[in-house]
Amino acid sequence: MKVLVQKNYEELSKKAAEIIKAQLAEKPDSVFGLATGGTPGGTYEEIIRMYKAGEVDFSRATAFNLDEYYPIKKTSDQSYYYFMQKNLFDHVNFAKTFIPNGEAADAATECAAYDEKIAAHGGIDLQILGIGGNGHIGFNEPGDEFIAATHHTPLDESTIKANARFFADVSEVPRHSLTMGIGTIMQAKKIILLASGAGKADIIQKTVRGAITPQVPASVLQLHPNVTIIADTEAGKLV
Ligand code: PGA
Repeated sequence: MKVLVQKNYEELSKKAAEIIKAQLAEKPDSVFGLATGGTPGGTYEEIIRMYKAGEVDFSRATAFNLDEYYPIKKTSDQSYYYFMQKNLFDHVNFAKTFIPNGEAADAATECAAYDEKIAAHGGIDLQILGIGGNGHIGFNEPGDEFIAATHHTPLDESTIKANARFFADVSEVPRHSLTMGIGTIMQAKKIILLASGAGKADIIQKTVRGAITPQVPASVLQLHPNVTIIADTEAGKLV
C-alpha cells in the first residue's frame, strides 16, 4: 500500500484528479469505480475544471458507482444517483454511467445484475474509495466476514449518525443500502482511497498498519497489489 500525504484537502483533491487524468491518458476507454460522500467532492470539482479546460475526455469511459441507499427514489436529493448527476455526471462526458438502482423491485436481482454488468465491461480499471470512520468502504460495514459480491445490507449505526449531516433529521437516513462487495472492489486493477481530516487518522492507521479483519473492512486493501491512499496531513498523521 502506498500512502501519499498531501498538505491539505485541496492538494489531496488535485492529486486524485491527476491520477484519474493519467488513467484516461493511458486508457481512454477506462472503467472507473466512483464514490460519493464529502471527501471526493473536491476531486470531482477538479475533474470538472480539467474537462472544461479540455484536459480530459471521458467520451469513451464508463463509471460504476460503489453504492446507493435502498430503497430510495432517484429524484430524492439524498440519493447517490442525484449526488452523482449534480456533482459530476451533468458536467463531464462519460460514455456510460451506472449506479446501483435504489428503486429496484428486487434488491438481490439488482445486485447480481450489477456485478454482471461490471464484468461485461471488462472490470474496473481504477476504483476511487472514501472510508468511513468505522473503516467501511462502500457500505461494507464492520462485521464477522467479508462479503464478496454486490449485496443488499443494513447500515451501521455509526454510518447512520455520520450521514445524518446530509439529512434534515437522523430519522430520515435510509437504514439499508446496495453496495459493491469486497470482492467486487478488490477485483479493480488499481484503487485510490481518499481520506481527509483528523477524524479519519485512527482508521487510516488501522487500515494501513492494523490486522486484516472484517471488523476494519478497509484493512483488506493490504492484500491488493495496487492501492494508493491519498490523505491530507490530518488524516495521515498516524501512519
Ligand atoms: P465521507 O464519507 O467522505 O463523507 O467522510 C466516506 C465514507 O463514508 O465512505
